[in-house]
Amino acid sequence: MTARSTAGPAIRVRGLEKSYGKLEVLRGVDFDVAPGTVFALLGSNGSGKSTTVRILATLLKPDAGTAANGFDVTTQPANVRESFSLTGQFAAVGDILSGRENLLLVAKLLHLDDPGTMVDDLLDRFSLTAPGTGATTPAPSCG
Ligand SMILES: Nc1ncnc2c1ncn2[C@@H]1O[C@H](COP(=O)(O)OP(=O)(O)O)[C@@H](O)[C@H]1O
Ligand SMILES: [Mg+2]
Repeated sequence: MTARSTAGPAIRVRGLEKSYGKLEVLRGVDFDVAPGTVFALLGSNGSGKSTTVRILATLLKPDAGTAANGFDVTTQPANVRESFSLTGQFAAVGDILSGRENLLLVAKLLHLDDPGTMVDDLLDRFSLTAPGTGATTPAPSCG
């Protein structure tokens, strides 16, 4: 059994480096994300945001440095993959589903209890409900 670090930051990145051939994209990236917070990784196009997220999601290996997303991405990749959820910028169903339906889909894929309530709470928390309606779009059945 592999221990998850419960103290300290939820995400910890230190000295992260990544190159694609001769293109040095990440040259010593450090940051922490505190538990229970919303964190935005901002930067110009091509600055390495997606590369960083891919490393944290274990989809790409760093050349150097460490990244921990609950577990270490290099030495405990299976544990990392079991413990987080990633939603992409583009998805095949992105133009078909509403924002609420997208959240519901992910909640159901994760087998979360009461996905409809969880989605409504999240939409409220981030002020994404349409004024006066309490919902972004007509709500589909939550099954
Ligand atoms: N698989 C790849 N092979 C070669 N170059 C890549 C690859 N992925 C990204 N790059 C390059 O690395 C740089 C950083 O890309 P990326 O991490 O996608 O930046 P961002 O998400 O901040 O726009 C860009 O110059 C991009 O063209
Ligand atoms: Mg990107």
